[in-house]
Amino acid sequence: MDERNKGRLTKDGIRIYQPGDFAGMQAAGDLAAGILDQIAPLVEPGVTTGSIDDAITRMVEDAGATSATIGYKGYQHASCISVNHVVCHGIPGEKRLKDGDILNVDVTVIVDGWFGDTSRMYVAGKLSRKAERLIQVTHDALFKGIEAVKPGNTFGDIGHAIQSFVEAQRMSVVRDFCGHGLGRVFHAPPNVLHYGRPGTGAVLEPGMFFTIEPMVNLGRPETKVLSDEWTAVTRDKSLSAQYEHSVGVTETGVEIFTLSPAGKFHPTWV
Ligand code: MF3
Ligand code: CO
Ligand code: CO
Repeated sequence: MDERNKGRLTKDGIRIYQPGDFAGMQAAGDLAAGILDQIAPLVEPGVTTGSIDDAITRMVEDAGATSATIGYKGYQHASCISVNHVVCHGIPGEKRLKDGDILNVDVTVIVDGWFGDTSRMYVAGKLSRKAERLIQVTHDALFKGIEAVKPGNTFGDIGHAIQSFVEAQRMSVVRDFCGHGLGRVFHAPPNVLHYGRPGTGAVLEPGMFFTIEPMVNLGRPETKVLSDEWTAVTRDKSLSAQYEHSVGVTETGVEIFTLSPAGKFHPTWV
């Protein structure tokens, strides 16, 4: 049997991976997260997002790994860099960061066929109070979602944990983009919604691998995609933030594959 067809699919089409597959995901996750650690000192006012992406491309190459995003549906960069009101899929380029800009850097690598997908927030220069609050809430929302990951819970439980937390802070959860199954492929079932009702959706089982990647806006949740066909922005131009981890369901709970090797996941820890 082809390696990628091992294990089984649930009735919702979600692949159940084997215990031995966790190590492959951990190696891919370690590389992606280590790259996000290493770019932290590069993020400064005056720097272009393209130069940060160039550094990421080099780190992926130096590790003997492959970028999952270069060539993906015509995308040409090793990262997405989403500044201020860009929600996700920002294209790195010649734009220079300004003091106080906040940005999400999203990296996906392939190591020995396994995909590691993670993103974090960074700040160029001085972090404003309102941006700090947005980033903190988004970070904590991701972890509310991760805390809901255990066998027997549902994907609706994850979405509900995130949505209820975010909305209690008077911020909004983006509906137009979601997390996804991954493993030996980049995007697979299920769609991991960051909103929802408890007890709804597929039931979590050990061996499921997926991302949780909530996007949170200070204003309204609506987004639009710019004419470059990638860049998604908030319709009301409010600030947006995102964090992403790749996780696996274990017999007792969750394993996070993309924890920072240097313990640097939060921007104020850099
Ligand atoms: N890494 C993104 C995700 O979290 C996907 C980026 S696809 C790209 O799913 F082509 F825009 F890079
Ligand atoms: Co993802
Ligand atoms: Co990603």
